[in-house]
Amino acid sequence: MSSNRFAPARPFRTGTVALALGSLLWSAASAAAQDPAREYPKAPPLPDLSGKVALITGSTDGLGRDVARRLAAAGARVLITGRSAERGDSLVAEIARSGKGSAKFYQADLASLAEARRLADLVTRDTRRLDLLINNAGIGWVFDSTRKLSPDGFEMHFAVNYLSHYLLTKRLLPLVVASAPARIINVSSGSQTAIDFDDPQMEKGYNGGRGYAQSKLAQVMMTIDMAPALEKQGVLTYSLHPATTMATTMARLLNVKPRSTIAEGVESVINAIVTTEPTGTFFNQLKPWKANAQAYDAAAREKLRALSDRLIGEP
Ligand SMILES: NC(=O)c1ccc[n+]([C@@H]2O[C@H](COP(=O)([O-])OP(=O)(O)OC[C@H]3O[C@@H](n4cnc5c(N)ncnc54)[C@H](OP(=O)(O)O)[C@@H]3O)[C@@H](O)[C@H]2O)c1
Repeated sequence: MSSNRFAPARPFRTGTVALALGSLLWSAASAAAQDPAREYPKAPPLPDLSGKVALITGSTDGLGRDVARRLAAAGARVLITGRSAERGDSLVAEIARSGKGSAKFYQADLASLAEARRLADLVTRDTRRLDLLINNAGIGWVFDSTRKLSPDGFEMHFAVNYLSHYLLTKRLLPLVVASAPARIINVSSGSQTAIDFDDPQMEKGYNGGRGYAQSKLAQVMMTIDMAPALEKQGVLTYSLHPATTMATTMARLLNVKPRSTIAEGVESVINAIVTTEPTGTFFNQLKPWKANAQAYDAAAREKLRALSDRLIGEP
């Protein structure tokens, strides 16, 4: 039974994924979504988060930054991460000025496993609890056909969007479990495609859309894979598609017209913080949804876990 103190009740329906490969343009959201006055589904309200600590990766910009603002406004201490010290420090100062919650910035480039390890070590050193781990940092070079490698030699989407977060999550688990009831939320996408375990780093054929979509499915698979053991320790975990083509730097760099506001994506993350749906659920915004079929293949999840443990060099 999944429950914790974040959660009021809410009914949902289940649907199926409509997948647009190689794109952030997942569903048929209308251009009207850009209208800030447009009504969109809201998550149940956040409870008072005073005394709670949340780490949000990729919170120097876009969705993560606005999630950090919302959690701090509810009283949380938010741990901000990203590469940009300028934007990180600026958000910390803004939260301090607001008089609600508190914040600290950790600079880390999650392209590098060593940086992910260092981030986990610093957070473990600095805080006695971690009630919410929100794995959100991401890149989406979906129209770029040049395969880029991380400093560790992994395909860049796989490294930043998935593998560093797998490592970070494993390293921070003792802290999260010690803070139970707690939650781990993986900000994935509706863009998902099956991982080719004969060529997971896409050496034999690459396109950016598939790189992004494989890494996003890996996040969903990690969520489902970890859920049962975590639940026994009082930790719930969810993955989600936040909103379709939000007006963030990611969409701007892709030169695509935004179809959703960042505020819509924030509601999706808040929903995962308070939902009473079973642990492991993948959400399309606020609705439980079916992810790519590979996510429900236990053998595939085991392959991904074994591969990930080998690549991070930790059992
Ligand atoms: N935008 C959309 O429509 C959309 C749709 C579906 C899913 N998503 C998912 O939502 C999440 C947030 O996306 P967004 O649209 O908010 O993107 P964004 O505006 O580009 O923000 C990305 C965040 O990730 C951080 N980041 C990027 N590369 C990093 C690295 N190597 N190391 C550490 N941090 C890094 C950035 O910080 P620095 O620049 O400071 O490093 C920034 O804080 C992503 O996981 C994305 O896949 C977005």
